[in-house]
Amino acid sequence: MLLNNNIMELLFSKKILFVGGKGGVGKSTSAAAIAILNAKKGNRTLLVSTDPAHNTGDIFHEKIGNNISEITPLLDALEIDPAKESKKYIQQVKDNIKGLVRASMIEEVHRQIDTASSSPGADEAALFDAIVTIIIDHNDTYDTIIFDTAPTGHTIRLLTLPELMGVWIEGMLDRRKKTTDNYNQIFNDGEPIDDPIFKVLQTRKKRFSTVRDILLSSSQTGFIFVLNPERLPILETEKAIKLLNQYHLHVNLLIINKVLPEEITDQFFQKRKLREKEYINKIEQTFKSQEKLYIPLLEEDISSLSLLENFSEKILH
Ligand SMILES: Nc1ncnc2c1ncn2[C@@H]1O[C@H](COP(=O)(O)OP(=O)(O)O)[C@@H](O)[C@H]1O
Ligand SMILES: [Mg+2]
Repeated sequence: MLLNNNIMELLFSKKILFVGGKGGVGKSTSAAAIAILNAKKGNRTLLVSTDPAHNTGDIFHEKIGNNISEITPLLDALEIDPAKESKKYIQQVKDNIKGLVRASMIEEVHRQIDTASSSPGADEAALFDAIVTIIIDHNDTYDTIIFDTAPTGHTIRLLTLPELMGVWIEGMLDRRKKTTDNYNQIFNDGEPIDDPIFKVLQTRKKRFSTVRDILLSSSQTGFIFVLNPERLPILETEKAIKLLNQYHLHVNLLIINKVLPEEITDQFFQKRKLREKEYINKIEQTFKSQEKLYIPLLEEDISSLSLLENFSEKILH
């Protein structure tokens, strides 16, 4: 069976692809395979791993890390480390504030930033900031940017953050503007003064809304979920899709990975296959608005480029 046009369009014509799903289902493998296929089509492609347990490097047998590495002439890869991003982000916030607050206040402000940075969600915020930066910086360099995102709940948090951030920054800007307006009335005869904090916030807001627009545009961004034909992954995928829908992000494609191959005749596996058939029926009934791609369980782990090529062939057929 050759791929239908919807799936072709989704895999090869988007600016941004997110590949989500639980740990172990085959996200990194699928993301890497889709990246290879995009490069083969002639798309300049960047594969970004945001999973702390990186294995993109292992798949390509290359040390990747924090700097963009060339895998093939049209395929680059990058691994983002959430903990490092978090540290970098906090430092950036501190640097931004330097010179904006009185020296006597610096210590207190830093204390507050450190408290905020250990609150839940701070790591995701930092990681999201890194994703925003990649999308903004490399929008012109690459035709396709593929994010091999961390496990489900985390990913959704990341993707919903621009919504939350939008509201949050909006509130800060408002308050800031009111303060400045009052200040202007009292001290500056109503003439507007330059407010550096207002400017920093406004720049952030612009960056976030640019990226939000890209993520919310279904012609530019595609969401792919990988799952295995088993009970829990089905339930989790269902939840994740509903949650994303609430934020107007629509999952377009499911990759159902590690399906037992037809030719297995062993009795033990025959039984498993019967059960698997039920799950596949369930998948077909539950996920009516998604395209579906089925990939068989292969004989061995996908631990080399040639095995990955083999895996990507399975995507195409
Ligand atoms: N279709 C498949 N057949 C055999 N092994 C697979 C298949 N898909 C993935 N794997 C293996 O399963 C393990 C988990 O895959 P991985 O892509 O790292 O998952 P994730 O990124 O979702 O945690 C890896 O060892 C990978 O090589
Ligand atoms: Mg992975």
